[in-house]
Amino acid sequence: MAPCALLPLAALVAPLGAAADTKRPAAGRVLVVYFSRSGNTRVIAGHIGRSLGATVFEIQPAQPYPEDYFQTVEQARRERDSGFRPPLKDRVENLDAYDVVYLGFPIWGGTAPPVVRSFLAAHDLAGKTLTPFITHGGYGVGDSLKVVAAHASRARLREAALVMQADQEKQTTERVNRWLGDARPGSRPAN
Ligand SMILES: Cc1cc2nc3c(=O)[nH]c(=O)nc-3n(C[C@H](O)[C@H](O)[C@H](O)COP(=O)(O)O)c2cc1C
Repeated sequence: MAPCALLPLAALVAPLGAAADTKRPAAGRVLVVYFSRSGNTRVIAGHIGRSLGATVFEIQPAQPYPEDYFQTVEQARRERDSGFRPPLKDRVENLDAYDVVYLGFPIWGGTAPPVVRSFLAAHDLAGKTLTPFITHGGYGVGDSLKVVAAHASRARLREAALVMQADQEKQTTERVNRWLGDARPGSRPAN
């Protein structure tokens, strides 16, 4: 056997072995998937994606949620209570290309948003390393990690999830409403 015949195998094995030993997964095999309404989770997803050289995929419902915050809260509550899984706008078609998935979402009504459940139900994450990153408005992650574990039971769920408190659209909306005061159509003039 010519000595150089071993080279291709060595060249193949070395990078894989090296990747397995490092904390940072190999670029190109990492997928960042996220849902975000008001942008907090999107900022984190973008940063993870740029830092790891990963592909970034935004989870979107086929039918967008209302622009209005309070209408969205109502709809999300109904969907959570009925177990409704909103249809997805798009799927990740080439999931086989990824070994490592970062999954980001905001807490809605004390749990993962319904469309995140839709995503997990529609994608088989078996064998993939799954790391959640979660933003919330001050009330913690609720049962969302259990929901992820139940919906992605064949993934290797990393316990070291990133959990961050972030701004609430509720507070922003209420603050702006107070500031607008009677400039809003239909509002009563202050005495
Ligand atoms: C429909 C809805 C429900 C929410 N429910 C909760 C909640 O139960 N607990 C909480 O701490 N924050 C709650 N929040 C606040 C968000 O979790 C928080 O602001 C999050 O960072 C928003 O992320 P985003 O900007 O990526 O959408 C809720 C926000 C929305 C829009």
